[in-house]
Amino acid sequence: MTTVLTSQVKKLSGELSIPGDKSISHRSIMFGAIAKGTTTVSNFLTGEDCLSTIACFQKLGVTINQQENFVEIIGKGFEGLKEPTELLNVGNSGTTIRLMLGILSGRPFFAALEGDASIAKRPMTRVTDPLREMGASIDGRVNGKFTPISVRGGSLNGFTYELPMASAQVKSAILLAGLQASGTTTVIEPSRTRDHTERMIRQFGGEVTIDGLAVSVKGGQSLKATHVHVPGDISSAAFFLVAGAIVPNSEVTLRNVGLNPSRTGIIDVMVDMGADLHVSSEELEAAEPVADLTIKPSSLRATTIEGDMIPRLIDELPIIALLATQAEGITVIKDAEELKVKETNRIDTVVHELKTLGAKIEATDDGMIIYGGSKLHGGRVNSHGDHRIGMMLAIASLISDGEVILENEEAISVSYPMFFAHLNKLIN
Ligand code: S3P
Repeated sequence: MTTVLTSQVKKLSGELSIPGDKSISHRSIMFGAIAKGTTTVSNFLTGEDCLSTIACFQKLGVTINQQENFVEIIGKGFEGLKEPTELLNVGNSGTTIRLMLGILSGRPFFAALEGDASIAKRPMTRVTDPLREMGASIDGRVNGKFTPISVRGGSLNGFTYELPMASAQVKSAILLAGLQASGTTTVIEPSRTRDHTERMIRQFGGEVTIDGLAVSVKGGQSLKATHVHVPGDISSAAFFLVAGAIVPNSEVTLRNVGLNPSRTGIIDVMVDMGADLHVSSEELEAAEPVADLTIKPSSLRATTIEGDMIPRLIDELPIIALLATQAEGITVIKDAEELKVKETNRIDTVVHELKTLGAKIEATDDGMIIYGGSKLHGGRVNSHGDHRIGMMLAIASLISDGEVILENEEAISVSYPMFFAHLNKLIN
């Protein structure tokens, strides 16, 4: 679908309750399914990606009742999962396919997985290689590199694996296989990535050892059902943080945003750039810390984003690129090759689409160079089926001085079905 976005906005004001975190929502269903007993989940994200996870586990024989953002999962342990009679369709969701491959690698049955056109281009060898090394039989297009992928799980051996890239999805897939393997499985990360899987293993009564960049689990653990309250998704909040920072005269408060330190790179970068961002009502005791965030416009300066910071804000780089177009000076993003294998090649899509609106921005091999102080104008842009590109362009439109038309706007419902309703609430 094509939509005319709102442009030339005078100010944004008000507050929003940010929908549930996508990474944690996926994991709440997966852990509920492999634990024993009835798990309940509140503030579950009803975006299409997380609904794909529910549908896949229902096909594996798990009873899951969902009413809007409340979900009940009747788990019967890993052994309760049954051979599916149909293909498991993960839609657009990389987290679903990669983490499920880890779970299915330890199950003594056959399953086949597929997804949409974007999933068909995303590399799976990063998970299929280590899972094969543990003992799973996996096949797929181009020798298991791409979907469709089939897995016949079985008995797995624990091992130590040095991750070649900083990826929480790969780490999590191996840990989920490791929970079913003999002995201990250790994953060594090149840089720390989001640790929701580790936190959730503990929340479901399991044990995980973290020693620097090494994360270990013992096989044969039994997990117990629990209640999971999903905090607001900082990756969704990011769009309104940047909007509040660049639309003049704004004041926006975002409630109950998850502030897991492995995800708060955007806050550190915005503060470093001079953003007027205030954190309040911090609750640090829960499995995942949360707080309220208030943002107002201020003069912004360029920055360099690189190294260990990248995994802490990998999904926020498209919206940070927009922010950098409004800062003074030249912002450099490096060490972010992983952007090339997201829902789209986000180096190419960000650079191409922002250029269409008049930004001065260049692609590099591992990131982007963004020249600040650009005035954005109207134009015809495209999400390319990537939810985060669609939302970034909708925020860019707010400060554009002409009409912005967005193609493939429907991609946004992958992670934020209420996005336009929330944006309109702040405009009016
Ligand atoms: C995710 C990990 C990240 C992130 C994705 C969600 C997760 O992917 O980009 O949106 O839930 O583990 P990688 O692990 O590929 O970096």
